[in-house]
Amino acid sequence: MTIPFTQVYLDGSEQKYIQDCIKSKKIGGSGSYTNNCLTFLKDKFGFNNTILTPSCTDAIEMCSILLNFTPEDEIIIPSFSFVSCALPFELRGSKIVFADSCDDNPNIDASKIEELITPRTKAIFIIHYGGIACDLDKIISLCEKYDLYLIEDAAHSVDSYYKGKPLGSFGDMSVFSFHETKNISCGEGGLLILNDSSFYSRAEILRDKGTNRSAFFQGKVDKYNWVDVGSSFVQSDLLAALLYSQFLNLDVIQKKRIDVWNIYSEKLSVLNSKGICSTTKLTEHSTNNAHVFYLICRSLDERIKLAKYLKSFDITASFHYQSLHSSPYYSPKHDGRILINSDKFSNQLLRLPLYSDLSIQDAETISNHILKFYGL
Ligand SMILES: Cc1ncc(COP(=O)(O)O)c(C=O)c1O
Repeated sequence: MTIPFTQVYLDGSEQKYIQDCIKSKKIGGSGSYTNNCLTFLKDKFGFNNTILTPSCTDAIEMCSILLNFTPEDEIIIPSFSFVSCALPFELRGSKIVFADSCDDNPNIDASKIEELITPRTKAIFIIHYGGIACDLDKIISLCEKYDLYLIEDAAHSVDSYYKGKPLGSFGDMSVFSFHETKNISCGEGGLLILNDSSFYSRAEILRDKGTNRSAFFQGKVDKYNWVDVGSSFVQSDLLAALLYSQFLNLDVIQKKRIDVWNIYSEKLSVLNSKGICSTTKLTEHSTNNAHVFYLICRSLDERIKLAKYLKSFDITASFHYQSLHSSPYYSPKHDGRILINSDKFSNQLLRLPLYSDLSIQDAETISNHILKFYGL
């Protein structure tokens, strides 16, 4: 039997909401299902000033416009991250200063950020890799000390917490992804949270193609007009209907994923204890939302061999980000610093299949194959 790398949880209930949306003939943006999603996010996580977007990439682009990034500005971003994290700032001509990961987990190494700050630095961009929190206390204190914005990429982090507070509530602006690889998905989708509420009304304008359409529909102006830059950052209500059904299933989805994650963790802990390779490392004060389970192989060669070995049993395991500082596009612009941990995770990290419908039995089988590969 083929075991895919990832699969969206769909239990049929989503059809009811999608049908309902179709029947209403209101499938554009900012409709009732968008409102349902935003109300859910407020009730469950306390998120206010939220905007659904067609993707997380779009939400990050909105951050770059809201903070008026220009070629004069610099932003610090972990190199072990997705292109979407850097692209919007590159589009604005700003300088990207790539930061290294921690030695024992792929999050940005907070102890090495300060040396990258210059008078031109405008923001620090962080990613909670696999929904496991960065060292937020340290990063927030740096932002306060140097008067920098914090952009929090919580793309992986739905329903994960730091010191009891949901990830996504720490940045001046925070973003989530609902791409099909994420715990909660509507195929393609994103979320922007303006924890600094002063950005919210401009964010609505950016979303609505640079117009004050939203103020018009709220009766605040008598006609709507082109008032700023912007783009089409609106999510269709049809996708919001699917997203809403996912939110209603959040607890089921999370429980199933965590059960699978725990099997991997229990069965493969021997790899840690025998010093063969390390498995997903949780950080201090963070919960685990079971977004990823990964192994850090001893070399690129070993990772390739293990992935091939698993493939021979129709099991798909996958590497993740390739360091952005050494990408074909960015390497000529990079300042030459060696980011040893970022490269290590790029070469050695292998993600195991993880989705809510993966059976416990399959998770055990996958683990057994891995143990066998390592001669255990
Ligand atoms: C950390 C991170 N940020 C942003 C994105 C972009 O998300 P989207 O595909 O919703 O644009 C991804 C994609 O996987 C990601 O991993």
